[in-house]
Amino acid sequence: MSTKKKTNQNTSSASSAKPWEHAKSGAGSAHDPLAARFVESISYDTRMYKQDIIGSVAHATMLAEVGLITKKELAQIKRGLNEIKKEIDEQGQSWPGWKVELEDVHMCVEAALIAKVGDAGRKLHTGRSRNDQVALDLKLWIEDAAADLDKQFTALFKAFVGLAKRDGKIVMPSYTHLQRAQPICVGGELVAWLSALERCQQRITALRAVNKQNPLGSGAIAGSGLPLDRSITAGLLPVGPATPNSIDGTASRDAALDMVYSLAMISQTLSRLAEQWIIYMSEEFGFLKIGEAYTTGSSMMPQKRNPDMLELIRGRCGNVYGNLVAMLTMVKGTPIAYNRDLQEDKRHLFAAFDMVADCLEMTTRIVKSAKFQEKRINERLHRGFLDATALADYLVTRNVPFRTAHQVVGALVRECEAQNLDQLSDLKLEDFNKACINSGQKADTCDAEVYAWLGPANVVKRYQSYGNSGLSGFTQQIKVWEKRLKK
Ligand code: ARG
Repeated sequence: MSTKKKTNQNTSSASSAKPWEHAKSGAGSAHDPLAARFVESISYDTRMYKQDIIGSVAHATMLAEVGLITKKELAQIKRGLNEIKKEIDEQGQSWPGWKVELEDVHMCVEAALIAKVGDAGRKLHTGRSRNDQVALDLKLWIEDAAADLDKQFTALFKAFVGLAKRDGKIVMPSYTHLQRAQPICVGGELVAWLSALERCQQRITALRAVNKQNPLGSGAIAGSGLPLDRSITAGLLPVGPATPNSIDGTASRDAALDMVYSLAMISQTLSRLAEQWIIYMSEEFGFLKIGEAYTTGSSMMPQKRNPDMLELIRGRCGNVYGNLVAMLTMVKGTPIAYNRDLQEDKRHLFAAFDMVADCLEMTTRIVKSAKFQEKRINERLHRGFLDATALADYLVTRNVPFRTAHQVVGALVRECEAQNLDQLSDLKLEDFNKACINSGQKADTCDAEVYAWLGPANVVKRYQSYGNSGLSGFTQQIKVWEKRLKK
């Protein structure tokens, strides 16, 4: 089932009476065009038509099984809904059944059904309200959206694994506080993104499980005096057993909120990746190049290649956060029932989904096009004393307590600076031992083996703790990822 947006909204067709206007003594909202426009959700909820029809078929099937409609009426309803689905599949937003006066997707589909099959169509809404109907449609839509996102995650994971397999062994500096820290493999950092994105995917899986309850049959708020069998509809739809309470069933927007929060977390992760790569693409770093299709020029400065796509991935995160805050705020003031405020949920859910889906796709393409610049990274790899921590580890293997080792290496770094040396490996063996003596250690603490612990290339080979970002850690993790993605 598709969750994609269709454009070209036609909301201005001929007027149609709302089925509840007869309850009013004077003029209904249909008589004021502003009121009609103000209350509608047809301009954004038509994308749930498939879910709406699936829910209606399940409801009608149940009505027939419990004897509230006949088999013949069920057949008419199914035929009518099937035709409507085909028409909308083909005509999209220009389907003549979309009428702004009817407010929303639910009323438009129902009105079209009644026009096709008459009284059988007038029975479809038996024991149902738009309140449980829209709650169900939303859950079905979220299920489909989650499945779409799953596919996108797989493509993105594959892109990262591909990049790690090609460039993963390149040794690079890692940064904390954006200051040089310890040497790592490019692949180590790529696995970091994979780990963060995997949690994003798991959040989606988790929200599906938490929200697996079917609100259909809750009615407007209190349930129904008719002999509805909610287990039948629940059995026909992929969103779990019947909600145990009709009020919560219609009042809750938890599934939508969980989805928008999860989307915000995806967006946050992609934004962070974008920021990191924008830095890596600067002249100052020069660690990374991405496909030219994903950079743009300047209208004034002829030499420019700007990482606009990455900047937009970073910038759009703000919109998704906005959707999340808007939804949280919208729900917090509603008494526990359906209130029209809740209609706005779809605006934010759909906007957040569209934006994140686009960003995921764009990120996948950028990752596929990315090339780490080994030569450039190497040019300054000897700077920043990246192997200082490794030297402290070496001293630990020579029986020096770590705090003392830390002191010794600190003194050695200062010694390098005093002698104008770039690297710890430029020091003589006697320099190492002199520093050890100064910290109360034996004169033969260090031997020539110390040099095998120094230099970024040696360091990344030595990491052995599980999950390390050096050679052994990332190659082990990439194997796990390859296996996972083969399934
Ligand atoms: N379009 C509405 C929504 O999305 C449907 C529910 C309207 N229910 C009502 N009782 N007014 O929330």
